[in-house]
Order: sequence, then structure tokens, then C-alpha cells
Amino acid sequence: MINVGIIGLGYWGPNYLRIFSQLDGCRVAAASDMDSKRIENFSKNYPSVRFFTDFKKMLTEEVLDAVVIATPTTTHFKITKEVISRGSHVLLEKPLALTTKECQSLVDLAQKNKKILMVGHTFIYNQAVGWIKNYVESGQAGKVYYIHAQRTNLGPIRHDVGALVDLAPHDISMLLHILGKEPVSVSAFGSAYLHNVREDVAYLHLEFKDGTMGHVHVSWLEPRKVRQLTVIGDKKMIVFDDVNVTEPLRIFDKGVTVSKEYRTFGEFQMILRDGDIVSPKVNLAEPLKAQCQAFIESVKTGKKPVSDGVFGLKVVKVLEAALKSMKSGGRTIKLS
Ligand SMILES: NC(=O)c1ccc[n+]([C@@H]2O[C@H](COP(=O)([O-])OP(=O)(O)OC[C@H]3O[C@@H](n4cnc5c(N)ncnc54)[C@H](O)[C@@H]3O)[C@@H](O)[C@H]2O)c1
Repeated sequence: MINVGIIGLGYWGPNYLRIFSQLDGCRVAAASDMDSKRIENFSKNYPSVRFFTDFKKMLTEEVLDAVVIATPTTTHFKITKEVISRGSHVLLEKPLALTTKECQSLVDLAQKNKKILMVGHTFIYNQAVGWIKNYVESGQAGKVYYIHAQRTNLGPIRHDVGALVDLAPHDISMLLHILGKEPVSVSAFGSAYLHNVREDVAYLHLEFKDGTMGHVHVSWLEPRKVRQLTVIGDKKMIVFDDVNVTEPLRIFDKGVTVSKEYRTFGEFQMILRDGDIVSPKVNLAEPLKAQCQAFIESVKTGKKPVSDGVFGLKVVKVLEAALKSMKSGGRTIKLS
């Protein structure tokens, strides 16, 4: 039985309290939030869990094999460092930390202490994303020209980080996971309208060595909730719509073939293909539950999680370059 502790019971943390309380092979022994009102809300429904307002006290008084951290992004580095140093495995919400330097130091610390460090890149554990990855890797989509992702809504607005750092980790993690490679350059544009401090909207552009392109649009200042990822391959086109519960995935047998027969130099014939649209059946299991199961499995077996610290660092590398680019008016930042 794995003893789990949770730090942070704001908007997202209670999902972990619910899921780890139901999972086989583990029990939530303790949970902490510095806001005592948050604790009052949960202590009645979880009588077997010990609640603390000071997470350090929780780490001292409880023997915790694993700790889940769902606190604001700006606190990730300090809290994770403390937890790993005190001897627990960690599942930490995205993004791993604010800088690649901090990420590298957490990766090194986890390795030195022989602890699992997993980042909550939930979309990696989404069945639809796994389906797309397998489809692309099997070659059925053909050569991937580009992927674009859109994540917009009105709110929730954060006060510790901008929309890019808050929202884009989801899309960057999907892009890196599906393509299985890292970009060679990053550029980004964004604007801060509400507070004039951090961006409310950002457009991120990634380039890969083989010419594949990635594009991410994030905003918490839009009227519609859109969560879409589109993969354009030369054989098939794929649309993942995370707010469409009945048909989250659609495969379009659409494309353009360039005919090799032409009369004069430069006069190519473009043959448009407009075939079937297929909506494959995808198991709609809760991605966060699959992520938590993968974490428990890693804690038990020592197996490296897919979204381990190194993966989390790759995501932050892109974020860091994007922030740098944004500050310099969209300059291209080389990554390798
Ligand atoms: N994977 C996802 O889809 C997803 C969705 C939402 C949020 N998140 C991530 O989850 C994390 C938390 O986001 P949120 O929306 O729940 O934020 P939130 O502000 O609603 O909640 C954070 C909670 O952490 C508590 N806290 C802060 N410092 C603490 C400390 N030192 N000790 C104990 N408690 C402390 C706060 O009191 C608050 O209750 C962020 O990293 C965010 O990026 C992920």
C-alpha cells in the first residue's frame, strides 16, 4: 500500500484527492493547503485523511511514499525540492518549474535520491492523444507537414504566470509526444491587455529539423472554449476536439497530391483528394485517473513515467524560449 500525500487543494488538487482515494494499491494518508478554509471543505468528506495547513509539518509527521503537488506554478520548484529531499516520490502539476535551470536541478535531485519525478502532463495520458501518436508513428497519416493547436476560453485568469506558461504546456506536451522529437527553434508573439504585466494571449511557432511546423494559440480572453489539435499529414488529416464528447477524434481522408506530369516547367497539377471522414472509437477513460495510475505503477516498479522530469524539462525549454522570443518582439530563438 502506497501512502500518498497531497499539497494544494485549490481548483485542481481536489481531483487528486478524489482519484487517489479510489485507486487500488494506495491510500491518501494526508493532504495540505495553507488556506484553512479549503481544508474545512474536505475534512468532513475524507475522515481518514489527516489535513495540515503547513506541508512541511505534514512531511515531518507522516510517512509518505509519494506526494502530489498541485500548487501555483511559481511554488513548484521550492516545494518539489523540499519533498524529494525529504524522501518521497513526486507527481507535480505542469509546468515542472519556471526555468530550465530549475528543472534540471529537480531532475538531478530526483536521480540522486532515486525518486520518481513525474509531471502532470495530463494530455499524454488522454486516450485520443495516444491514438494519434500511434497513428502518426505507424505512418498512416504520412509525412506530418504541421500541427496546430488552439486552447482558448474566457478565463480562468492566473495571477502568478501568463497565459503562455499556464496553458501552452498542454499543447507543447502533446506536440512533443506525438512527434517524438524536439523543435530546433521557437518564436512567439503575445500581448498583455488586462494587467499590462503578463500575456493574456500568445501565438507560439515551433520548427522541427525535418521541416515539420508546430503552432499553438492560447488565450484566456476569448468568448469560446476551444480545445483543438489538428495534424496535417500528406496522407491523412486528424482533428482532436477535446470539448466534443461524442466525437473527440476525426480522421479526414483529405489531401493534395502533386502530379509529376506537367507540360511546362513549374506547371504542376494539384490533385485534391476528398474522401471519407472516420471517427474512431476511443475509450473515454478519465485521463487524470490514467495519469495517477501510471504514477503509482512507476512508484511500485521504478519504471520511468512517460512524462518524467526530463520530458517536463523539454516542455519548459520551449516555454522559456517562447517567453524570450515574446520579449524581443518575436525573434526566432534557436534551441540546438
Ligand atoms: N492538468 C490540468 O489540466 C490542470 C488544470 C488546472 C490546473 N493545473 C495546475 O495545477 C496547479 C494548481 O492550479 P489550481 O488551478 O488548482 O490553482 P489554485 O490557485 O486554485 O490552487 C492552488 C492551491 O495551492 C495552495 N497552496 C499554495 N501554496 C501552498 C503551500 N506552500 N502549501 C500548501 N498549499 C499551498 C493554495 O492555498 C491553493 O488552495 C498549477 O500548477 C496549474 O498549472 C493543471
